[in-house]
Amino acid sequence: MQTVVSVDGLRSRVAAWRRAGARVGFVPTMGNLHEGHFSLIGAARARSDRVVASVFVNPTQFGPAEDFSTYPRTLAQDQAGLAASGCDLLFAPAIDEMYPFGAERTVRVEVPELGAILDGAARPGHFVGVATVVTKLLNLVQPDVAVFGQKDYQQLLVIRRLVQDLRLPVEIIGAPTKREANGLAMSSRNQYLAGNLRSRATVLWQAIRMTRRAVASSSRPVPARRLKARVRRIVADTPGARLDYVEYFDPETLAPALRVGRGTHMALAVRVGRTRLIDNARL
Ligand code: PAJ
Repeated sequence: MQTVVSVDGLRSRVAAWRRAGARVGFVPTMGNLHEGHFSLIGAARARSDRVVASVFVNPTQFGPAEDFSTYPRTLAQDQAGLAASGCDLLFAPAIDEMYPFGAERTVRVEVPELGAILDGAARPGHFVGVATVVTKLLNLVQPDVAVFGQKDYQQLLVIRRLVQDLRLPVEIIGAPTKREANGLAMSSRNQYLAGNLRSRATVLWQAIRMTRRAVASSSRPVPARRLKARVRRIVADTPGARLDYVEYFDPETLAPALRVGRGTHMALAVRVGRTRLIDNARL
């Protein structure tokens, strides 16, 4: 696997593959890679001849009080993992390469509504940063297919929408969430969880399982209000955990569901210690 840091280096390699008729897959990441990320490389591999990954900790999607400066940067380890999982080319640009006019002055891509609710409401500007960098990356790589995790479900919908609206010629694939044996969704931010916070972080999975059981055991849709109250209780009973939000919604439009049944989607964000974790599932 080769690593390139410049746009020119990236473009010349991808152009050579294209001339040879190869189908190109792409997996954007912020690095500190784990099995969840590597499963996306596998999904891209299965759908293309060549796979490009990017590692770029994107400053524009972090809020001023968030963890941009402390976000784990582990490039050597990421390179080894990517090579082992079948990636052909890593694009690992510096900030100036992605934002030649500066991150503050960049052209921005905003997805209204889908990008403004849930995590977009909790983290103002977050999805503008995500949509902007993903648009730039898709434009640089020009892949046939790009793979994103359902772990960041709202992000996946925001990206699907920008691709449709801007008519970008790329197929977007959503890949399932990889979890630890205890149900905790794999995340680069899990390493902030010291000591017993790691087991307490399974509270998100407990909330999902409780909702699944409640929906499965009821012959009629369950009022969202009632389920939210139960989730609030589960989180309140977990030391060190604080609920940011829990929502039940339509999986395509994200419109809130008043009654929850099979096929409704749920998402929640919980602070465990100082770490903000998100999870979601189709019920
Ligand atoms: P990052 O958090 O590094 O995630 C990169 C990709 O891996 C995303 O598509 C994410 O949904 C997926 N992913 C993360 N954890 C996963 C898990 N446990 N199972 C399956 N997939 C998982 O998401 C970003 O980076 C950034 O916002 C990015 C899209 C790269 C734009 O900067």
